[in-house]
Amino acid sequence: MTHYDFDTVIDRHNTHCKRTDNLVSEFGSKDLLPLWIADMDFAVCSEISEALVNRFQGHPIYGYTNTYDEYWQSIIDWQRRRNGFEISREEMTFMPGGMPALGMILNFFTKPGDRVVLQEPVYYDFKDVIEGNHRLAVRNNLIPTGDHFYKMDLDDLERVFIQQNPRLMVVCNPQNPIGIVWKKEELQQVAALARRYNVILFSDEVFGDITLFGHKHTPLATVSEDAAAVTITCGSPGKTFNIPGLKSTWLVIKNPELRREFYRWVEVNELCNANIPALLATEVGYRKCEPWLEACKKYIEQNVLYVADYCKENIPGIYAIKPQASFLMWLDCRRLGLDHNELVRFFAEEAHLALNNGEIYGVPGYCHMRLNVGTPRALLEKAMGQLRDAVDRLKNR
Ligand SMILES: Cc1ncc(COP(=O)(O)O)c(C=O)c1O
Repeated sequence: MTHYDFDTVIDRHNTHCKRTDNLVSEFGSKDLLPLWIADMDFAVCSEISEALVNRFQGHPIYGYTNTYDEYWQSIIDWQRRRNGFEISREEMTFMPGGMPALGMILNFFTKPGDRVVLQEPVYYDFKDVIEGNHRLAVRNNLIPTGDHFYKMDLDDLERVFIQQNPRLMVVCNPQNPIGIVWKKEELQQVAALARRYNVILFSDEVFGDITLFGHKHTPLATVSEDAAAVTITCGSPGKTFNIPGLKSTWLVIKNPELRREFYRWVEVNELCNANIPALLATEVGYRKCEPWLEACKKYIEQNVLYVADYCKENIPGIYAIKPQASFLMWLDCRRLGLDHNELVRFFAEEAHLALNNGEIYGVPGYCHMRLNVGTPRALLEKAMGQLRDAVDRLKNR
């Protein structure tokens, strides 16, 4: 079996990398271990880098480029094989990113002032894109299950649909920041309600390939006829193969009524025009890099277990929730006895760690932080040591 190296620490400073080079603008100091924004610190699978080098060195013209059959087929085959998701070319379009896709969908299917449902805590850019486009985010927040996990509040969802009359709902499937893999039954209920109340579902499945500990991703559009009728699926090889900077995203809309005009609008405005590295890396990733992904997931699982155990043994004030998917961990810090602003300051100024502030994911993120464990173990060990020492100093104050 090929050995993949996830242990080598690669210095990302001064490469225009947001994670390292935005520390001062985001956290006020450059002297922090960066474990925030959701990309990984691992080199991509060599098949991807070799294909890109060969293309760029082998042929010196980088002109206007079509999408091509092998590109589409690589997505179709991957979804069929891994998720049992049957899709065809005419149901798909290329998009230059998940949030650009959401922005386009909001602009096409809704109007200013329309309501869009979010289930917080959830990836903060959804709210920013919704509100930045002058739509109104309304909440159907997740509810804690008592065992440090969360579930959907489906009774409340029906109430929100009736009372708020939203046009769209974002389903983060799998969920970020907690890393929840939604069950088929939950998704079926959401889809049935959406159909009944005429709500389009934007299913963000960019973490669908990074399921952990035996959990299995269920594409929302596969769970029922209702789901197929109302769902816009947004997928990407970005998280899967650690290539989010290449801006390669695809949409699937099964319902021809829903997609026809939208895809025409996207095309005339040239919003689905692809670029050479995005197409090539996507195709090569889906075709050749599955073993890399499986090895990467094993490495992430070990990192997750390490952090969960480390907190249990050394930092009892922090409970690190094990995700079912993603390389992100939701840290419940309520038992540290700090208020949220103190907590955010504590992580940056005392522990010298750059983590995402839990409150950007919504009100339920109070006294929570999000830790990115898609990083070499050595860095994670250093980070946990810094955190333990800072917590110990806090106790002795
Ligand atoms: C759930 C989720 N969706 C979408 C994105 C961003 O997608 P893109 O970079 O393709 O806009 C992220 C990035 O972290 C994410 O966590």
